[in-house]
Amino acid sequence: MLKILVCVSGGGTNLQAIIDSVNQGAITDTEIVRVISNNKNAYALERAKKAGIPAVCVSPKDYADREQFNEAFLKAVDEAAPDLIVLAGFLVVIPVQLIRRYENRIINIHPSLIPSFCGTGYYGLKVHEGVLARGVKITGATVHFVDEGTDTGPIIMQKAVAVQEDDTPEVLQRRVMEEAEWIILPWCINLIACGKVTVADGKVHISE
Ligand code: GRF
Repeated sequence: MLKILVCVSGGGTNLQAIIDSVNQGAITDTEIVRVISNNKNAYALERAKKAGIPAVCVSPKDYADREQFNEAFLKAVDEAAPDLIVLAGFLVVIPVQLIRRYENRIINIHPSLIPSFCGTGYYGLKVHEGVLARGVKITGATVHFVDEGTDTGPIIMQKAVAVQEDDTPEVLQRRVMEEAEWIILPWCINLIACGKVTVADGKVHISE
């Protein structure tokens, strides 16, 4: 049984896709043991509650400095003893100690085709604003392992999504979620639960 911890900041539609996939059996042999939000008003917390998943808020705002927050965050993660940490729209920079402790056991969903429109400053709607400003015709989403850089870890899976002429950042964001994020994130978790994902030389191999 793969024990996963999901970190969220907002609406939690990716969390919902994971919950639904576990319930429907599309993600096998997996239990969501805890949800952590950095935002006490995140609707994602409500979704966790409705699904009966233990959820906690650990917010930088409640700590005197970053070090104290990092300590509390690490504690909240370690208590859950997860096999895999899933960043599903988590807007906080992960403490480096955590990245080292959970090497190749933290995954993130990014709403573009990495290495385009990623890195510092590219989060949330800003990604889709960048896509529209550049006029690219294809965007998408990427699931990758988290390393010490921003969006630089080994890529597990990507899915392309067409950009339409009259897209707004909001409309495009929704399409990328529906056509890519909600599909590939649960899919990757299932592949990991099935033991099919390995990393070597910074690249991911998925076995049959
Ligand atoms: C998603 O677009 C995700 O890729 C991004 O933040 C958004 C989170 O949405 N990093 P939700 O909270 O899962 O609804």
